[in-house]
Amino acid sequence: MKPSLPPFLEFFSGIGAFAAAAPGLATVVQPFDQDALCNETYQLNFHNSPSPQNLSSPRIRLKGKPGEVSLHMSPPCQPYTKKGKGLDVDDPRARAFLNIVGLLPSIRPRHFLLENVPPFQDSESRMRLLDTLDSLQMDVAEVLLCPTQLGIPNRRQRYFLLASTQPLGPQSPLPQVGYPLKEYLDPKPDPALFVSPEFEEKHRFGLDVVTLPSSPDAKQQPLAVFGSSYGHAVARAGSYLRTEDGHLRRFSPKEILRLLHFPNTFHFPQSMRQTIRYRLAGNSMNVAVVRYLLQWLLGEG
Ligand SMILES: C[S@@+](CC[C@H](N)C(=O)[O-])C[C@H]1O[C@@H](n2cnc3c(N)ncnc32)[C@H](O)[C@@H]1O
Repeated sequence: MKPSLPPFLEFFSGIGAFAAAAPGLATVVQPFDQDALCNETYQLNFHNSPSPQNLSSPRIRLKGKPGEVSLHMSPPCQPYTKKGKGLDVDDPRARAFLNIVGLLPSIRPRHFLLENVPPFQDSESRMRLLDTLDSLQMDVAEVLLCPTQLGIPNRRQRYFLLASTQPLGPQSPLPQVGYPLKEYLDPKPDPALFVSPEFEEKHRFGLDVVTLPSSPDAKQQPLAVFGSSYGHAVARAGSYLRTEDGHLRRFSPKEILRLLHFPNTFHFPQSMRQTIRYRLAGNSMNVAVVRYLLQWLLGEG
């Protein structure tokens, strides 16, 4: 009989990229997120209701016995970005992360996986986390990974930290799971995604425009990051697509989810507004990257 899958707590669960990466490798026993719209989407897709607790609170009710659960977290990145002023541990948005770091000695996770933006690697927050993992005698590996390294035409470099009570094996070769951009696109794009020639003229210096390669052998230019403001901010929020007949359009939330390698069955609540869909997808993680890291973490690579 196959042994049961390792149970995980999923902190800052958002729309559930970790849960989407977990099948066959791990089971999520308790997701947590304070955002009701994230939680509605998570419940719809994973049939598990995230706990809506504020993770800055000193009283977090946890399922699972100390020493028996594992833990994933992708805490807010604003404390580490220039746009978020880079206040690190002094940013109130880092409180929930620091609170969970403080709980680690009582949770004693078997395995641990953290995701954040690359500047996290120079932060005081990281130092505090490393000190705690060291006190728990966990083996640690850190890596910067971008979906383009797995052949996915989407730039989204992120920092990951893996820690385990077991020695972590060496990093295995990256699987090439991506395919040409054209195959991620909606067969019949929504006409509302197209922008007018006036819009294009007005913003011509601020737009990142991606063109489909002219032949199957031509190299695809990787896409820019899709940020959470895509769909309402114009410049530097994400790429636009030049279609084969010369028109310019945004990518749809569904296309962004495909580029993040969410399963095809994943969907947003029907009544959810487009700007919210962009925000939630823009805050999420690449499922294929997380699955690769989870395999490494659990020694299944
Ligand atoms: C970077 S996103 C994580 C996205 C997630 N990994 C996904 O796959 O969608 C951070 C998440 O943390 C949640 N969050 C931020 N501060 C929180 C807090 N104090 N308590 C609980 N959740 C919080 C936000 O609602 C957001 O969904």
